[in-house]
Amino acid sequence: MPPGTYPHARRDPRCPATVQLFPGTRDARQPDCDRGRPGAARRQRGPPLDRRRRSTHAHPIREAAIAALEAGDTRYGYSQGTPGLRQALSDYHRRHWDVDVAPERFCVSIGGMNAVVMAMQAILDEGDEVIMPSPAWPNAKQVVAICGGVNVAVAFEFHADGAITLDLDTLFAAVTERTRAIFINSPSNPTGWRMPLADMQRLRDFCRERGLWIVADEVYNHFVYDGQGPAPSFFCSCATTPTVCW
Ligand SMILES: Cc1ncc(COP(=O)(O)O)c(C=O)c1O
Repeated sequence: MPPGTYPHARRDPRCPATVQLFPGTRDARQPDCDRGRPGAARRQRGPPLDRRRRSTHAHPIREAAIAALEAGDTRYGYSQGTPGLRQALSDYHRRHWDVDVAPERFCVSIGGMNAVVMAMQAILDEGDEVIMPSPAWPNAKQVVAICGGVNVAVAFEFHADGAITLDLDTLFAAVTERTRAIFINSPSNPTGWRMPLADMQRLRDFCRERGLWIVADEVYNHFVYDGQGPAPSFFCSCATTPTVCW
């Protein structure tokens, strides 16, 4: 049955217009509707339901969470993240990227998605354009729309030898008066493309000149399997400016 015709996933008139815009909303609900229906194909994102029963988190994380609960450490914490965690993040960035980012410059989110939402909410006004190398992570495109922005796709180039590249001149040509930001997810989900450091520097210079934001999602930075990791980071190309928000 095509996703749009699934009975429980009809558009719900009580949802705001922004939410109704998204075909993905229907897809996300379908697995729940299908749960337990014999022969139903699984289309949901994330690990299959039968693997979700057991926590895949490493022991120290589980143990720290249990210990915190038992110690009654359940009240509101620091909204920017605990000082200890922010110090650990600062140390982590020095260790991996050799950059000095003071602990007070970190803001701990409740996940990668939440970080992207907060960044987009902070910079987008209605109708602002966000340029996104594509194919792109669907959630990122939807965040732009939810924040009232317009997603402008710039296609990756797929080569016969399997290489994937992004032509920066094509990307620069997509910039208009309404462009507010360029979203770079490197290494990319879903393509695996990695932006070379020289391109990051060129993009940085272009964006500084044009007054554009770079929203960098580098969540897969250490997922590099050819011995060339971790992947280049905007941390290395922008670290010296005081105007950068990490
Ligand atoms: C490109 C990208 N960024 C961030 C995330 C992480 O999001 P979250 O921590 O909210 O699961 C994902 C997860 O799929 C992702 O693919």
